[in-house]
Amino acid sequence: MTAKRSVVLGCGSYLPQKVLTNAELAARIDTSDEWIVQRTGIRQRHIAAEGEFTSHLAINAARAALEHAGLDAQAIDLIVLATSTPDHTFPATAVAVQNELGIHHGAAFDLQAVCSGFVFALATADNFLRSGAYKRALVIGAETFSRILDWNDRGTCVLFGDGAGAVVLEAQDQPGLPSDRGVLTTHLRSDGRHKAKLYVDGGPSTTQTVGHLRMEGREVFKHAVGMITDVIVDAFDATGATADSIDWFIPHQANKRIIDASAHKLHIAPQKVVLTVDLHGNTSAASIPLALAVAVKDGRVKKGDLVLFEAMGGGFTWGSALVRW
Ligand code: UT7
Repeated sequence: MTAKRSVVLGCGSYLPQKVLTNAELAARIDTSDEWIVQRTGIRQRHIAAEGEFTSHLAINAARAALEHAGLDAQAIDLIVLATSTPDHTFPATAVAVQNELGIHHGAAFDLQAVCSGFVFALATADNFLRSGAYKRALVIGAETFSRILDWNDRGTCVLFGDGAGAVVLEAQDQPGLPSDRGVLTTHLRSDGRHKAKLYVDGGPSTTQTVGHLRMEGREVFKHAVGMITDVIVDAFDATGATADSIDWFIPHQANKRIIDASAHKLHIAPQKVVLTVDLHGNTSAASIPLALAVAVKDGRVKKGDLVLFEAMGGGFTWGSALVRW
């Protein structure tokens, strides 16, 4: 019995040129490189240039993913773009990407699940591909969080950065076995009781302003590891995969301490964990595809490898995905 799977054909990423180091931040606000590294593992982040929008980062990442896949943009009939920092309130940033790529067929839309956005977008595209509605999808995570930070709030402004990553998925018939290539399972969760712990204090319907990111960091931290590990256990239960059988763990890159604690709790070996939080900071929906692109480019992730993604963020939202490369 065959099964339709969303197979990853390629991935790509883009980071704005400007790098902002911890030392530069320490010169502006009451913080230090030592505090930031110790508490988060972050050493630097990239910041979009004036006039460089989320769509620009997304287009560059999408082009890199298409090139890696060896595919012409016209082959794409679905674009799902995860972002909390769109170019405009509407239309969706995804249609700007679609237009720039010269695609005028199929569908393109944004999806907003904050830091869990990439996993939510991957799950959404996977369901559309497996249903037969579309054939090939671009799944993009792209953010310019630098635009919604309060640069005087040391509790948040040191944590985030800008960037974009993308994958190309294709619906393919696979044997229907655990050894299948493609997205094997996805698990999405939300719980709005926690919405005030991580939010932006503006929006079109409330303040008619963009607003700034506000976070009770300690509260988010407290819930993170439990939520992350729960949803990974769901992925293991659904597929029979284990901490030993996965080849790579590519988590949302918010805080090295959260990543280390999650891997430790699940008995995932440290050498299987892909870490880019030191170089990128927390890029929200972009962090997983950015980390993935690094690990594919440096040869760690190879065809046939079992790759585990997880993310947790504002809402709260959280989710996992297990993909055979
Ligand atoms: O991606 C979405 C999900 N988001 C997350 O996963 C973030 C989760 N939270 C965290 O990563 C951590 O809670 C933080 C990195 C945000 C903070 O680390 P923490 O160990 O929880 O520190 P804290 O908030 O408990 O603050 C400890 C101290 C405080 O000083 P007092 O009250 O002990 O005197 C803060 O004022 O550190 C102070 N502090 C800073 N000091 C230097 C807070 N931010 C800074 C800073 N530099 N940037």
